[in-house]
Amino acid sequence: MACKRGALIVLEGVDKAGKTTQCKKLVQLLQQSGRPAEMMRFPERTTTIGQLVGAYLENKSDLEDHTVHLLFSANRWELVPLMKKKLEQGTTLVVDRYAFSGVAFTSAKPGFSLDWCMKPDVGLPKPDLVIFLKLSPAEAALRGQFGEERYETSVFQQAVQQKFEELFKDPSVNWQVIDASQSVQAVHENITILSQKIINTAQDLPLGELWK
Ligand code: TYD
Repeated sequence: MACKRGALIVLEGVDKAGKTTQCKKLVQLLQQSGRPAEMMRFPERTTTIGQLVGAYLENKSDLEDHTVHLLFSANRWELVPLMKKKLEQGTTLVVDRYAFSGVAFTSAKPGFSLDWCMKPDVGLPKPDLVIFLKLSPAEAALRGQFGEERYETSVFQQAVQQKFEELFKDPSVNWQVIDASQSVQAVHENITILSQKIINTAQDLPLGELWK
């Protein structure tokens, strides 16, 4: 009998919402409970494309806005064969940012429609669950200064948050919003409940295609 597939779980949210911490905690918990699970992140800065994106984010290079959007998307597509292989082998993938960040960040720039921004990512493996860690700009500010990278300003982050809110309206995606102002442990418990449920459901369903 073929083994059951793993679930594709994505964490999204604005800066300082705690995505990376929560991804790590979830993977650790799943592994401890005997379920194969691995973390991935986008951008994946180690590939050739990822290095171009990384240099752009670190302000070490300038790229035209459409070009960088397509590079972020290409960085996801180049990992698709690996993602599919792992999911088919039964490994649950917990992913720190995905196409939703791609769309929210670029469409927060002037002159970019949501529709144009979504196009390059149409057909990517569709997440079984997208958890959005919601944090108000005021609460994010209480967690300290923004970093030095491109996009790390409160004005831009507010525009990004609005774009995420537009994306929530899409019923083809299984969005779950969690209040990230709670304690790390409380957020982790919420995420764990949602994830365990979806792992059980997804194992008997085919992997979908995003926005198709
Ligand atoms: P990330 O490496 O997750 O950094 P951080 O941990 O500081 O959030 O993300 C880097 C930046 O790239 C972040 O500002 C969001 C942005 N981004 C895009 O603009 N498009 C994309 O497709 C992705 C995945 C991220």
